[in-house]
Amino acid sequence: MNGAAVPMSLLEISHLKTSFFTHLGEVKAVDDVSISLDQGETLGIVGESGSGKSVAMLSVMRLLSDNGRIVSGGINFRGRDIAKLSERDMENLRGKQIGMIFQDPMTSLNPVFTIGNQLTEMISRHLGLRKKDARGKAVEMLSAVMIPSPDERMRQFPHELSGGMRQRAMIAMALCCDPDILIADEPTTALDVTIQAQIIDLMKDLKKRTGTSVILITHDLGVVAGLCDNICVMYAGRIAERGSSTDIFHNSKHPYTKGLLASVPNPKKLTRERLVPIKGAPPDLLRPPEGCAFAPRCGQAMRICFLRRPPLFKVGDLHGASCFLNHPDAPPEAV
Ligand SMILES: Nc1ncnc2c1ncn2[C@@H]1O[C@H](COP(=O)(O)OP(=O)(O)OP(=O)(O)O)[C@@H](O)[C@H]1O
Ligand SMILES: [Mg+2]
Repeated sequence: MNGAAVPMSLLEISHLKTSFFTHLGEVKAVDDVSISLDQGETLGIVGESGSGKSVAMLSVMRLLSDNGRIVSGGINFRGRDIAKLSERDMENLRGKQIGMIFQDPMTSLNPVFTIGNQLTEMISRHLGLRKKDARGKAVEMLSAVMIPSPDERMRQFPHELSGGMRQRAMIAMALCCDPDILIADEPTTALDVTIQAQIIDLMKDLKKRTGTSVILITHDLGVVAGLCDNICVMYAGRIAERGSSTDIFHNSKHPYTKGLLASVPNPKKLTRERLVPIKGAPPDLLRPPEGCAFAPRCGQAMRICFLRRPPLFKVGDLHGASCFLNHPDAPPEAV
């Protein structure tokens, strides 16, 4: 997307490398990741625990812990380089232009203030509304996320809400300033299955009404089905595969994605199928392997997979897979 006539994506992450510097050495949490998000798009980022999903998005928000640093690469939002913004500009951008539902609920909600206080403060700060109007907007937001008796909830503290209600309050908080992008990091993981489905329906509905672009992070492929236009599959800080939902669910070209698909129940199939977990564990990011990070766990690994890092092979219009099985010289019908 570099031609002058082609409009830029809303968010363009290119060759991002983010590391943590620990007493044991450099943890390469995000290692050369490129992701783009268009206006109105819903993108899923999927991968096992530790694959770098949260760190990639915390880099976008510039909210890494003190030992974390963007080592190289670019993050472009609406034509501005996020790495070059001042902390003051970032404060304006967070919440107002990019809202995030954090994986840890207490990062979003402060336990010592009521829900109402937090929403009102955020709205009056970012939208410059007077206290009374900001309060009105806060109540409106709580109703929009289907929280019953919103006036009462305004007076409650986060710990007084159930898990599902707290999650809704966090969505309200992230959406209260009509951001261009909503980043939702595992928004349903801690919830039971019925509430999970309600939150997913709520996000679908909000998206339809507001047109906000969404990045949905999850380790569960079942959650992104039906909600995401496009999906990035991450493994060990790298992109294993990316493509449309159809590409990923029906025409995957990476053994890791296929492994993930085999390890989640298919809601469309009523038969009891056998789920197959992926054997082995992800690599230590302090000492990432030289070749493909998935090779040690891959049933189809070839010699080259242990020696060279696979590039992202173009296997369709927008479909790419970092796997040598897609090389023209690979054994036919390998993937
Ligand atoms: N502050 C830190 N110091 C050192 N390493 C860190 C720190 N924060 C994260 N990491 C490491 O970075 C890697 C990526 O972590 P990240 O939180 O992005 O994973 P994730 O894909 O979001 O996993 P999960 O599904 O469990 O949330 C992990 O190996 C993690 O241990
Ligand atoms: Mg995470």
